[in-house]
Amino acid sequence: MRALIRQPAFLALQQLKQQEQGTSLAQRFADDPARFEQFSLGFGDHMRVDLSRQHWSAEVRAQLCRLASDMSLRQGIDALFGDNAFNHTEGRAALHTALRMPPKAKAMHRGENVVPKVHAELARIQDFCRRVHGGIWHGYTGRPISDVVNIGIGGSDLGPAMVAEALAPCRDKGIRTHFVSNMDGAQLGSVLAGLDPATALFVISSKTFTTDETMTNARAARSWLMTACGGEEHIARHFVAVSVNAEAVTAFGIDEANMFRFWDWVGGRFSLWSAIGLPIALAVGFERFQQLLAGAHAMDEHLRQAPFEQNIPVLLALLSIWNINVLGLQSEGVFPYHHHLKRFPAFLQQLNMESNGKGVNNAGQPVDHATGPVVWGEVGTNGQHAFFQLLHQGSVMVPAEFIGFARSAYPYPEHQRKLLANMLAQAQAMAFGKAREQVESELAAEGLSAEAVAELAPYKVMPGNRPSTVILCDELTPYNLGALIAMYEHKTFVQGWLWNINSFDQWGVELGKKLAARLIDDLDHGVTLGHDSATNGLLAQIKLWSVS
Ligand code: F6P
Repeated sequence: MRALIRQPAFLALQQLKQQEQGTSLAQRFADDPARFEQFSLGFGDHMRVDLSRQHWSAEVRAQLCRLASDMSLRQGIDALFGDNAFNHTEGRAALHTALRMPPKAKAMHRGENVVPKVHAELARIQDFCRRVHGGIWHGYTGRPISDVVNIGIGGSDLGPAMVAEALAPCRDKGIRTHFVSNMDGAQLGSVLAGLDPATALFVISSKTFTTDETMTNARAARSWLMTACGGEEHIARHFVAVSVNAEAVTAFGIDEANMFRFWDWVGGRFSLWSAIGLPIALAVGFERFQQLLAGAHAMDEHLRQAPFEQNIPVLLALLSIWNINVLGLQSEGVFPYHHHLKRFPAFLQQLNMESNGKGVNNAGQPVDHATGPVVWGEVGTNGQHAFFQLLHQGSVMVPAEFIGFARSAYPYPEHQRKLLANMLAQAQAMAFGKAREQVESELAAEGLSAEAVAELAPYKVMPGNRPSTVILCDELTPYNLGALIAMYEHKTFVQGWLWNINSFDQWGVELGKKLAARLIDDLDHGVTLGHDSATNGLLAQIKLWSVS
């Protein structure tokens, strides 16, 4: 397949760049009163995605969709639901869509339909939830479980942590959840300090069951529990595992009967739908976990069936290609206007940046165009009082994605109205800004002299013309959240397909792990001076300070 930047449709898009940049967003809306209808899309009755405030026209959209067709995206999408070899550098498929298929569906992997085993594992999770919630599974003193501590990192942490927080209003099972990921013992220490060992359940979540942070935290948690309960025989009541690696799980001391499985065709950052979601099901109940899966499956079907011109994840990905590869905007801000989505930007960072932060294409050649953007964000309205200044008047243009919900689970209608008004206002201000004439007349109306007006006006002008997308849902339900996450998964996949990179490996994180292993030895056994001079100098300083 010809590379993205040599595709005829891409060359046509480059030709359109100047023309498109010459038309402001204000002009586009003035020219076309139906722009919102033309460029916003519905997903069922629950979600509307407004792409009208992007620097694009129907012509650009048509060329982007042609680009997707010419690059066989339909074939790629079909393969995402079957026996693909997307993760060829690790010899694995990427089949996370099978995790949310209904029981009668089929997803083939190496000649086997994997859907029955997905549902068999779901049934085990359901049964486990029933026992924990009913107090049948209890701690070593006979008291029911009150706190679940997930120990995992990356995909074995961010997904369940983000969802458990997002669905906080649904946590009605009497279970508190905690997430320990960091190698910094401060995190484990502060969680343990608030726990009663008799009612704590540790879920050790690791696909490989070898990740150093997770195993270090898991061993420390086990010692803490042993000290409290005084006998190894009690460990089984307080530790379960989620992994693909049964051997390592049993070597750690967790019985296979207390291990929940997933499979190597599930990438870590795509795994929250599997047993990695166990803490979610424990926190909000298995039925709500099923609704999360149902929402994701509905988005899968939308991806599969909707024509590209009406396909939400495809258009989000195509727009990002337009912004990144044609307009040169290499950062994406994501701003959920929902406090319980505070971990959503961090989740998206792993999803997109670990997937698409690649510099080599599927043929092993260096890519000759930009790939994954820098993804970052914060909840609204907090971000407004921190870095939104740069979004409005800074020299860098950052396309923004605003995520809002019409209804709130909390009884504060005034807050909710103001929250939504703020979100809408930010998208408006970014797009339409404030012209110098308006600034001048406002300052004059305040009684400022002509001289003072001339002096102050340039600082108050808002250039506007900054692109944004608004994703509006009726409410943050498990179903909508599932659909939203799957939408971003598919956006990531489509980007990777068009960039012709492997979105499912992450070799870039390996070198740091290896170097850290050697440095741990150095710190354990005293400093060896075999490193670069900066590392040697810092090791010597650490040694000096750690003994004083
Ligand atoms: O180091 C990166 C990574 O491999 C992620 O891709 C993964 O989600 C995370 O580490 C945790 O891995 P595991 O689930 O095997 O502990």
